[in-house]
Amino acid sequence: MKKRLVVFASGNGSNLQALIDACAQQRLHAEITLVITNRRTAYAAERAAQAGIPHRYEPLRPWLQNGKERADYDAYLAEIVAEQQPHAIVLAGWMHVFADLFIERFYGRILNVHPALLPAFPGAHAISDALAYGVKVTGVTVMYIWPGGLLNYDNGPIILQEVVPVYDDDDEDTLAARIHGVEHRLLPEAVRLHIEEKLEVHGRHVRLRP
Ligand code: GRF
Repeated sequence: MKKRLVVFASGNGSNLQALIDACAQQRLHAEITLVITNRRTAYAAERAAQAGIPHRYEPLRPWLQNGKERADYDAYLAEIVAEQQPHAIVLAGWMHVFADLFIERFYGRILNVHPALLPAFPGAHAISDALAYGVKVTGVTVMYIWPGGLLNYDNGPIILQEVVPVYDDDDEDTLAARIHGVEHRLLPEAVRLHIEEKLEVHGRHVRLRP
């Protein structure tokens, strides 16, 4: 039976596309049952439509404008996700920090991709931060999200990491292109390991089952 995935995306959705392609090519024995976006401009929504995947646009702002809290929005999203009974929830460029109530409900099933070698360069500007710092290598991290709010957000147990070199003549675009190329391979692979139950989590440490 195919495993069920829910994907959250806020932007271009190239990582969503990598997951769509991996499912279509049966590298991933899974189906994406729902894509959720929170920005009107997210091209990820178009990618979902083109692949015939159900999509919901669920922005935070109307909730706040109606006097609700961020936690209300997160609780609402948690209900939508729970209905899907997903084996994995993939944050693929999702620019919203979930409250612990969401993360605790699905703990151990939420995967995130980050464009740096964590714990170096957490946060929303990892590629430009690495470039500005002058590092010679950066990379890609796929990890489980764990509770603890914004400060902990990029600190969860690491599933896969891969190094990406930084060259002297790199600018943000060339480095981003190299990083995205690795992300598009690493994220589907991490999702595969997760849904095939090949991973064991011991505290911070994620091990491949023997
Ligand atoms: C990726 O670099 C990912 O690591 C980060 O957000 C970016 C999303 O890119 N979390 P895309 O929308 O998947 O193209």
